[in-house]
Amino acid sequence: MCAQLINFEIKGDDRGSLIALEKKHNIPFEIKRVYYLFDTKTGIRRGFHAHHALQQIAICVHGSCEFLMDDGYEVEIIKLDNNHTGLMLPPYVWHEMFNFSPDCVLMVLANDFYDESDYIRSYQDFISMVNKNKGNGNYA
Ligand code: TYD
Repeated sequence: MCAQLINFEIKGDDRGSLIALEKKHNIPFEIKRVYYLFDTKTGIRRGFHAHHALQQIAICVHGSCEFLMDDGYEVEIIKLDNNHTGLMLPPYVWHEMFNFSPDCVLMVLANDFYDESDYIRSYQDFISMVNKNKGNGNYA
């Protein structure tokens, strides 16, 4: 796996900086939901799930944090420490977030509404699904 990062253009002028996130222009899906994590306590690790269908992009708009990304084949650690880089979180990638700086604001764009039934919260179930579908690219 090679985690996909998107570099957002900063529209800066002498007043300051601005980044626009727009479907088709720099976000490859329709944004139906935005949520953000902040005030994350020191040492907390969260996430611990994959999704069946949801597509997401995580942007650390302030501070920094790290992602563990695991597609069942490889594990990658990605540090997000700027407000102009988005990390794609595709379906069937187990992810965990950790090392949140105290000032971290982690914003996530999603292509669908919150739906608990889209979550895979057991790592064993996730690995079983990946193994079952090795080779054919289909997930049940
Ligand atoms: P949770 O899935 O535990 O967060 P994480 O995966 O980042 O560790 O979500 C925390 C709570 O927030 C849980 O009660 C579900 C709720 N929630 C929503 O209501 N809407 C959302 O869009 C999200 C992401 C979570």
